[in-house]
Amino acid sequence: MTATSIGKVYLIGAGPGDPELITLKGKRCLEAADVVLYDELVNRELLDFVSANAEIVCVGKIAGGCAGNQRAIEAMPIGRAREGKCVVRLKGGDPFVFGRGGEEAQALSAAGIPFEIVPGVSSAIAVPAYAGIPVTHRSHAASVAFVTGHKAVGGEVKWGELARATDTLIILMGLQNIRAIMGRLLEEGCEPDRPVALIESGTLPHQKTAIGTVATICEIAEQRRFRSPTLIVVGEVVNLARELAWFERLPGVEMTTRRNYEAESLGGVSI
Ligand SMILES: C[S@@+](CC[C@H](N)C(=O)[O-])C[C@H]1O[C@@H](n2cnc3c(N)ncnc32)[C@H](O)[C@@H]1O
Repeated sequence: MTATSIGKVYLIGAGPGDPELITLKGKRCLEAADVVLYDELVNRELLDFVSANAEIVCVGKIAGGCAGNQRAIEAMPIGRAREGKCVVRLKGGDPFVFGRGGEEAQALSAAGIPFEIVPGVSSAIAVPAYAGIPVTHRSHAASVAFVTGHKAVGGEVKWGELARATDTLIILMGLQNIRAIMGRLLEEGCEPDRPVALIESGTLPHQKTAIGTVATICEIAEQRRFRSPTLIVVGEVVNLARELAWFERLPGVEMTTRRNYEAESLGGVSI
């Protein structure tokens, strides 16, 4: 009886939503996979690249929903690789940007499983780009910070330092805590009229965008019923959306974006 040779795990970034934003390497790995373990935010259209014989499992979890704890998720690719399989662990955006990809890679390393990381297009930059917001700009922003909004209170995120030292803040997982986050920014001396954008389901045809300010965005988020996944962008670059919003003008893209801009002249930056 011959021993089964060990397989390999590819930790792949699926991109932010638009299925065409996966990398060529990511697509090639999907085509070759025996097993695909994917997260909830991953666009299901990407599964069309997977062979009909492959095992496909949704192990995903999004804010509020849970389909298994992190330890169980980490054990799955290890078990399949020990059976000699080529395993793809497909994660939204980039696996190492707020995706627990670091923890999953550490678990593979500890278990002695060979692995590769295939970076992805993170929502942190792609979603603002689809809303016409460059995260840096020579005239408006020389620095950008990616921040978790999950930990709005407590000392883990240094809101004061971030607000003072960084031109653009990109806040992921922040919608549920938006009141606490904007409150912390104001407390720390952030100007109330600093522009803020909310972008829901960015890069997808139903992308929804709203523009306001640190002082007004919470009310806008409630009025416009923003839902997860939503990205929050704070900074002067948000104003460029007026000129650069391109995606909403494409045929086939829903009109939610433009309608929201009109609504925002209520209390935010008029677009
Ligand atoms: C757990 S983080 C994962 C981020 C991912 N690793 C990345 O690089 O994009 C999930 C958060 O990313 C943001 N996000 C991901 N996809 C998004 C999308 N299509 N539109 C808006 N926000 C998105 C939301 O803030 C969401 O709560």
